[in-house]
Amino acid sequence: MKPILNKNDVEINIKKAKKILENGDLVIFPTETVYGLGGNAIDENAIKKIYKIKNRPSNNPLICHFKNIDSIEKDFVINDKSYELANQFWPGPLTLILEKKETSNISPILSNHKKFVACRIPKHPTAQKLLQNLEFPIAAPSANISTKLSSTRIIHLSKKLKDNIFLLDGGKSFYGLESTIINACNGNPKILRLGSITLEVIEKIIPNIILENHSNFSNLSPGQQIKHYSPNLPLRINANSVLKDEALLNFGTNNLKSEIMELNLSTSGNLEEAGKNLYDFLHILDNSQSIGIAVAPVPDHNLGKTINDRLTRASKS
Ligand code: TXA
Ligand code: MG
Repeated sequence: MKPILNKNDVEINIKKAKKILENGDLVIFPTETVYGLGGNAIDENAIKKIYKIKNRPSNNPLICHFKNIDSIEKDFVINDKSYELANQFWPGPLTLILEKKETSNISPILSNHKKFVACRIPKHPTAQKLLQNLEFPIAAPSANISTKLSSTRIIHLSKKLKDNIFLLDGGKSFYGLESTIINACNGNPKILRLGSITLEVIEKIIPNIILENHSNFSNLSPGQQIKHYSPNLPLRINANSVLKDEALLNFGTNNLKSEIMELNLSTSGNLEEAGKNLYDFLHILDNSQSIGIAVAPVPDHNLGKTINDRLTRASKS
């Protein structure tokens, strides 16, 4: 059994992480959604390292993580609608697209030289503590190789990341699904990516919010490539039967069975529980001796919409 870190160890590791980031190197750190691969957001070379190790196309912008709203306001314009969302959900699993001020020293390559930048204040105590110790924000995508599954536990990290980058272990991610990304900079607020905060919850604050439709393949922003969040094995969604050598990612109660391996996202049909387990179970089934993963239907409401978004993208070859 791995010894549990005491308070002192956490302090020491945060100090180490701070030094590494100040020196322009990278750190893997926990957030309440998924693990992040972080670098100093004002250091162009640190950001280049993120793109390189992830094999991420440089036109796919990164999320900038801040300790509090005051530090965001130094660099960004926050309009009324964005403020309303920020007040409701920060710190937490919300990312807002905000307009960068001319005076900002955040590296332009973080956002592919665009002035609209994705910003977020994470809630995880380790992420918070790390940010509180720094004089700069952290640029961080999810800690995985580009197009692969996100990591919600340290054991999910690919060898390339684990072997080369200092990591802060924060246990299993609380939500297990990435943040919800909203652009409320103009009169037509849009959800660019569904995440841990559901459409139904956001509609209570912005009733006319639009959910960007990614089924229109021609008009995708770089990070919204159709294939994304993918296991190595082929994934077959909305399965109503399981093939002979397939593993099964099940949901709720039904007659589906696998002869190889089966994991149930939530036997009671609880979507929060399913969200927490999604990446963890996909990582496990991906390592099973099967020819592919059959996935039971997941109801398409509340967090089920986010889960189905990730499963649909993961199923594209
Ligand atoms: O929960 C999360 O959001 C995690 C944790 C670590 O914060 N981060 C995360 O980052 O999921 P990443 O890079 O894996 O996904 C961010 C998404 C990408 O699809 C990217 O294209 C989009 O956000 N994005 C970033 N900046 C953007 C911008 N300025 N405009 C539109 N989309 C943007
Ligand atoms: Mg990602």
